[in-house]
Amino acid sequence: MAAILYTDHGAAVRVSPAGRALTDAVLAALGAPSILNTQPWHWRIDGDTAQLRADRSRQLPVIDPDGRLLTLSCGAALHHARVALAADGFAAEVTYLPDAGDPDLLATVRVTGAGERTAAAQRLRRAIGIRRTDRRPFAERDVPEAALDGLRRAAATAGANLHVVRPRDLVDVVVAAGHAADVERADPAYRAELATWVHDGAEDGVPPATAAEGGPRPVPVRDFTGTPDALPSVYAGGDVADRHARYAVLVTGGDLARDWIAAGEALSAVLLTAAGDGLAASPMSDLVEVLPARTMLRRMLGDVGHPAMVVRIGVPGRIQPAPASPRRPSGSAVDLAG
Ligand SMILES: Cc1cc2nc3c(=O)[nH]c(=O)nc-3n(C[C@H](O)[C@H](O)[C@H](O)COP(=O)(O)O)c2cc1C
Repeated sequence: MAAILYTDHGAAVRVSPAGRALTDAVLAALGAPSILNTQPWHWRIDGDTAQLRADRSRQLPVIDPDGRLLTLSCGAALHHARVALAADGFAAEVTYLPDAGDPDLLATVRVTGAGERTAAAQRLRRAIGIRRTDRRPFAERDVPEAALDGLRRAAATAGANLHVVRPRDLVDVVVAAGHAADVERADPAYRAELATWVHDGAEDGVPPATAAEGGPRPVPVRDFTGTPDALPSVYAGGDVADRHARYAVLVTGGDLARDWIAAGEALSAVLLTAAGDGLAASPMSDLVEVLPARTMLRRMLGDVGHPAMVVRIGVPGRIQPAPASPRRPSGSAVDLAG
């Protein structure tokens, strides 16, 4: 039976059970992570189908000129929507890049009927509500190897390979991260773009309270202040934080839009699985934004594919959850065909 759905524009539209499920799924997908919290997606729900479009007005021209990270962010949103549908007991069919003449239409999701409500889907669905990017130093405890295996499986199921960096290769990550930070901070255009998106806005951007804190770290996380020497140096002689963090690289076979969507779906799968396991994580794309750093990761992994994203994973250092980042109102990111 069709239900009446009230949107946050105040308008009311009549929707089928499939439309209702898609609406719930798309609303859950608004919680997905995105580069600098740009939330560069737009959803349109029409009957039993949702269309996911890239919102190019939210692309970062300096950090992401090819739209790779924009597309990856949309892939993460797509995975969130699929998780929500599966948890609600709906089967769905996803068509990637369905219109060659319209490359910003990244995917359509069509509800095809009832699906099995698995415990695994429920677990990931709950994780959507608790997952946050946690840039704080992690605890002085190792990540269990079994949990890392689970993250590898989650990524593979979603379409990309997750390579957990071996301790003996960590030096490559240290050098790549340091180089990426130096190159980006020296670029005035990068600093200006960062400054546009780091703010206490109500709808998007990275709130300064969520930025990195704590002592020096072997692998620097992105410095959201954009100023040289803002983060403490490991050479200053203080305690070094984050020594138990693990780093993992999501790798795709190709380097085209379809691969970037897969990397985004895999990123979401990894982050939600980690959150469900009580682990903390933060994506690190600066290492793939700067070509020599990305090339270094690629060589470190033996040229097995294209590094799409780095994820920092650890045991949370605090009981209190990491501070939340805002989201756009649903009305600006979702259209319901009435
Ligand atoms: C494609 C992509 C790239 C990202 N790159 C970084 C990064 O380099 N450094 C970082 O600290 N966070 C990074 N993030 C995390 C976002 O900043 C974060 O998802 C966003 O601010 C929303 O916060 P939330 O994840 O807590 O909801 C990235 C996320 C995505 C999806």
